[in-house]
Amino acid sequence: MTQGVTSSGWLRRYGAPLAVGIAALVIAVLALRLANDARASLPSTEMAAARGPCLLPAEQMRRAHMDLLLHERRVAVREGIRNPQASLERCVTCHATHDAAGISLSANDPRHFCRACHDQVAVRVDCFSCHRATPAIAAADTETAR
Ligand code: HEC
Ligand code: HEC
Ligand code: HEC
Repeated sequence: MTQGVTSSGWLRRYGAPLAVGIAALVIAVLALRLANDARASLPSTEMAAARGPCLLPAEQMRRAHMDLLLHERRVAVREGIRNPQASLERCVTCHATHDAAGISLSANDPRHFCRACHDQVAVRVDCFSCHRATPAIAAADTETAR
């Protein structure tokens, strides 16, 4: 009886802070797992790095590539001004992904660089119905491109 009273007193005193502490720990662990998952789901840029630097640092590219591409497209299509540095062909050349046989993957393949993130956020681009999704020069698959 005394035992019961003491333990319920203990529970009343420390129960709530303890519960809050445990909840905070669970949330922290989950947040850490999520952060790791997000990082793990970014596409590899190892092969691309061998071909040279991106137009902007990765952090900025992640946020700005759509504006950059759509801007270049507008300028090219409307004004006829082409910026070879920012052509879509150049993106898919550096960022080409390959199957086991070394053949570059088309935009139909979920492992295509441009789909790595898009599939996760349910973004669909129609770019590759007109533009090549693979390097134009076969040599780019094995050698450095540009
Ligand atoms: C000369 C090779 C090269 C070209 C051309 C190139 N990239 Fe990159 N790209 C890279 C490299 C290398 C990285 C990783 C950079 C880093 O980690 O700082 C990268 C990173 C990125 C990222 C971020 C990926 C991530 O996991 O965070 C995006 C998005 C991207 N590029 C899109 C593009 C687009 C769109 C184009 C065309 C306009 C393009 N890139 C052209 C080499 C290239
Ligand atoms: C690091 C992840 C990542 C990679 C790699 C990536 N994208 Fe994206 N892209 C996104 C996200 C996220 C959005 C949606 C942004 C939004 O809705 O604000 C997006 C949106 C876009 C859009 C605009 C779509 C629309 O309907 O407005 C275009 C165009 C685009 N990406 C092109 C490309 C191309 C081309 C490549 C490959 C060269 C590529 N992206 C690779 C993350 C990525
Ligand atoms: C209906 C066909 C079509 C579609 C779909 C299309 N484009 Fe284009 N794009 C063109 C044509 C044609 C040009 C002009 C090519 C030239 O004059 O060099 C062009 C030019 C461009 C250019 C500048 C030059 C180059 O080679 O990169 C960019 C960048 C571009 N488009 C990006 C995009 C992106 C990003 C998407 C998807 C959101 C897209 N395009 C969808 C037909 C298309």
